[in-house]
Amino acid sequence: MRVLICEDGAAAAQRTADILCASVANRPDAVLGLATGGTMEPVYAVLRNRIAAGSLDLSGVTTFNLDEYVGLAVTHPQSYRATMQRLLFDAAGLPPARCHLPDGSAADPVAEARAYEAAIEAAGGIDLQLLGIGHNGHIGFNEPTSSLGSRTRVKTLTGETRRANARFFGPDEEAPQFAITMGIKTVLETRACVLLATGPRKAAVVAAAIEGPLAAACPASALQLHPQATFVLDPAAAAGLKLRDYYETVHPGGGEARL
Ligand code: F6R
Repeated sequence: MRVLICEDGAAAAQRTADILCASVANRPDAVLGLATGGTMEPVYAVLRNRIAAGSLDLSGVTTFNLDEYVGLAVTHPQSYRATMQRLLFDAAGLPPARCHLPDGSAADPVAEARAYEAAIEAAGGIDLQLLGIGHNGHIGFNEPTSSLGSRTRVKTLTGETRRANARFFGPDEEAPQFAITMGIKTVLETRACVLLATGPRKAAVVAAAIEGPLAAACPASALQLHPQATFVLDPAAAAGLKLRDYYETVHPGGGEARL
């Protein structure tokens, strides 16, 4: 596991964007796994700027988002489909057929989840998966106690996650209670993954994920099993790490390892 501690939140977002861009430079038709959430927004801003400047071309990639709310129309501005359209897909000029999200308005969400897992497999698997982390350790919407062997399925969101997501919804709206999410096993099968965490409110859960026991109680700790997992952090999110000096020695400034 690589732990990259960057100078600040902006540098961490740049570093995450750099890793994604390197993957696309290496394979212009890469299959990218994407995430939503406030932490990711600066990453997509960096990517949009690079696209506008002509230094990044995402027109050949295929994308699979981690999750989508159940019961929210795709036209709802807070559906993850609409969010991704706004944050990246429009700027990247990606045709909808190559930008995959679970359909949260499907008549049969259980069948939709199964079909989503099959679509990832049919695309040859995910080359690089972006991840955020919830305050309770969730990745995607794999809430604590999700099976480490889980695949894409419908999950009930915890009250804590719903309260955190309420900020994206109007005062007269309820944050959705269910989501379709890639499973932990689905994430573990990606060829590489990058988890970005910023800010002091993520410090405790980041420490639990990186240095705590492997446990379904902290789903992000499952990344300890991933052969190519990278955590990109700002100093505030790294504040709870016992081995922080070690990570900073191996990756000064969050850069590549000095050998
Ligand atoms: C969203 C997702 C979630 C978020 C997590 C952190 O697609 O998968 O796991 O990454 O809830 O959200 P923020 O960044 O808003 O704290």
